[in-house]
Amino acid sequence: MIQLRDVGFYPGGQRILDGINLEIEPSELFVIMGASGSGKSTILRLMNGLIKPDTGQVIVDNLDITNFSEKQLTGIRRNVGMVFQSAALFDSLSVADNVGFAWREHKISRQQYLAQIKETLRIVGLEGVEERMPAELSGGMRKRVGLARSIAMNPKVLLYDEPTAGLDPVTSNRILDLIVDLRTRLDVTSVMVTHDLQGAFAIADRVALLHNAQIGFVGTVADMKSSGDPLVQAFMSGGQGLVG
Ligand SMILES: Nc1ncnc2c1ncn2[C@@H]1O[C@H](COP(=O)(O)OP(=O)(O)OP(=O)(O)O)[C@@H](O)[C@H]1O
Ligand SMILES: [Mg+2]
Repeated sequence: MIQLRDVGFYPGGQRILDGINLEIEPSELFVIMGASGSGKSTILRLMNGLIKPDTGQVIVDNLDITNFSEKQLTGIRRNVGMVFQSAALFDSLSVADNVGFAWREHKISRQQYLAQIKETLRIVGLEGVEERMPAELSGGMRKRVGLARSIAMNPKVLLYDEPTAGLDPVTSNRILDLIVDLRTRLDVTSVMVTHDLQGAFAIADRVALLHNAQIGFVGTVADMKSSGDPLVQAFMSGGQGLVG
């Protein structure tokens, strides 16, 4: 569903990503981990065309989007939703209009619009908050509204940037359950960046570790747990020596 072929990203001559090869299968739940600043968010941004690689190719749903124009990318981003680290809600719009953003140009009645919003909020476990403004929500609720807005686009792929960061364990688990549920029910291909090793182990099909601008390891959770690779072992024991 998503392929990075020999991707390099060198802004201002800095080696941020170098020779990245990844192939994410349809409906896979793929997790990317690595130290802060290792390039995880950058990989997600490459996957929906927010940035372009300096070398290599990015293939999404059998289309090489590497040299796509902004206009062509708009179509791709409808299929590839991004759930940002910060939720990135429109602060001047109500929860309802944030969730319904993708439908604002659809010719549907107000009643149908509100019904769809209600159903989408129900999927993420939020009810009766349509009229609230983003500033009136907790961090966990904001993340769920951000997720609802992405689901509303009916995407084939969802990219999650640290969806559980800064949340309490109960809310984190609820978000992880939701990610699994979306994969199961809507068959979305999911790529999640996280620092939460337990969360990754709980839901990932495969995990990739970014290290030194490259993929240091990629494999199933079982592969990772039984790996004798010093990089993997260092990472699992708390990440000593893994800066960058
Ligand atoms: N467009 C850009 N121009 C210059 N440098 C960039 C650009 N995008 C990212 N970087 C640099 O690339 C590195 C990786 O950034 P990225 O945000 O991908 O890290 P990350 O792994 O997501 O980190 P964190 O866990 O802290 O979110 C950082 O050093 C960042 O400053
Ligand atoms: Mg990041």
